[in-house]
Amino acid sequence: MTTPTPLTQDELKTLVGQAALQFIVPGDIVGVGTGSTVNKFIDALATVKEQVRGAVSSSVASTERLRAIGIPVMDANEVEQLSVYVDGADEIDGQGHMVKGGGAALTREKIVAALARQFVCIADESKLVAMLGRFPLPVEVIPMAAAHIVRRFATLGGKATLRLKEGQPLVTDNGQHILDVTGLSITDPLALESQINQWPGVVTVGIFAHQKAQVCLLGTAQGVKTLRY
Ligand code: A5P
Repeated sequence: MTTPTPLTQDELKTLVGQAALQFIVPGDIVGVGTGSTVNKFIDALATVKEQVRGAVSSSVASTERLRAIGIPVMDANEVEQLSVYVDGADEIDGQGHMVKGGGAALTREKIVAALARQFVCIADESKLVAMLGRFPLPVEVIPMAAAHIVRRFATLGGKATLRLKEGQPLVTDNGQHILDVTGLSITDPLALESQINQWPGVVTVGIFAHQKAQVCLLGTAQGVKTLRY
């Protein structure tokens, strides 16, 4: 008997993107995140687009993809509440706390997530961790505050580095910069999120603990596992 070839990370992303369709309420507006896993969700949405009234998107990139498949994209200010927000994560722990922002879209992701009754995280199993902090923590900052915030992270034992794109500081969809912070031990995600959020010049920290997932659809070698928090 031959052993089946294990699924690739890309195939796991496709599976969880498709699995997220079960959370779509027909006729509703859906919240859509950003990243390579969400791109698979958007591909899957194309197959049921007549059931989707519209979307609120967390990035210019996702907006373009949604419009390309014919799904209207609404401004977040036009929508009071969403039934579901679907997004990926860079890390997710056993309580549904996440680190996000590897794609630099964390601020809009947190805003759209705040509109939703339910956050459905879609991720391959490489994203599941016992404790957050292995992935460098993204923090969106106002550029004039960057050096000060770097020093503040140093007092916590963190090393913050300005994210570059083609040799220049990366500029987010909101016109700001990103610091990536290594060396933190995130033992209390709720407390650390609150603490960093208070620093002047921090736009958004990529810890999603106050805004955690209620569900994670995790792509594993055994298929899609549904984790609830
Ligand atoms: C975007 O800013 C991020 O928060 C993404 O959700 C996260 O980086 C996951 O992206 P992938 O699905 O590409 O791994």
